This record gives sequence, C-alpha cells and structure tokens, in this order.
Amino acid sequence: MDKNVVALLNDQINKEFYSAYLYFDMANFYASKGLDGFANWYEIQAREEQDHAILFYHYLHNNNEDVTLEAIAKPDKTFETLSDPLQAAFEHEQYVTSLINAIYAAAQDVNDFRTVQFLDWFVKEQGEEEKNAGDMVTKMELFGSDPKSLYMLNSELAARTYSAPSLTL
Ligand code: FEO
Repeated sequence: MDKNVVALLNDQINKEFYSAYLYFDMANFYASKGLDGFANWYEIQAREEQDHAILFYHYLHNNNEDVTLEAIAKPDKTFETLSDPLQAAFEHEQYVTSLINAIYAAAQDVNDFRTVQFLDWFVKEQGEEEKNAGDMVTKMELFGSDPKSLYMLNSELAARTYSAPSLTL
C-alpha cells in the first residue's frame, strides 16, 4: 500500500480512540451532573468509537501492513454548561469527517480503490454521526431550559442501546 495512505489510516486508529476517550469524558461530565441518560448516550458513543478504531486496525493487518499504537491524548475540553459537550461533540464529528475525507482523497490520488471502498462506510457513518450530534444540540436548545423537558430528554437518551457496527472485516 501507499505509505502516506497507511500512515493516515494508522493515525486514524489513534484519532478514533481519542474520540472514544473524549466521549467517555462527556459521559463522565453528565454522570457527575446526575443526567444518567446523557451519560448513557456518550458511553455508547465511546464504544462505537472504539469499534471504529478496531476496524482501521483490522483493515491494515488484513492488508499486511504494520500498525503502530501511539499515546492517546488527554481529553482537553472543559465543560461548564449542560449544552457545552453537545456543541463540542458536533464540532468534533465535523473534524472527524474532515479526517475521513482526507484519507479518502489520498487513497483516490494513488488509485487505492480497496481503501476507497473501505472508507465508503465511514463516509456514510460520518453523515449519521453529524446528524445525530446536530439533533442533540437542537433538542437541548428547544427543551433544555425546562426541567420537565430536560427530564424527558434524559429519559429518551437513557434508552439508547449499543449495537456493533454494520461493517465487518
Ligand atoms: Fe468515529 Fe464519531 O466518528
């Protein structure tokens, strides 16, 4: 495989584990505020990010490429209001989309169609993740200032359950 594409894919493993750590920190924030539904949502989001990291890991090994695991940075966001993590999550997903797009472009540049096809799932997934994150921001804007509505929103988010990614390698 092209060395630049491999390096970007390898780096994405770290980026996805960092995303998991960031979302786990958001779960941690909401748990400390007594919002167990919001905490549940982000705990599950963290598990999905770990799944993403492992997909990149397996993809590289399946192509006989070595993987290097680097240190995962400390989550660097500070949250004050209940909506801060939601906005940060939305912006983070936009950033992750830009990373996926950059790998996609690099793979296309060298006619690495296998990687392009692998990344198609992530392109679609990023569309869903940005939509979900944006919806969370909107719901909080609409309902977050009313305690009863916040309670119901928390209950809705408590119902989220984990399911493994639809992409398998
Ligand atoms: Fe792995 Fe939320 O993107």
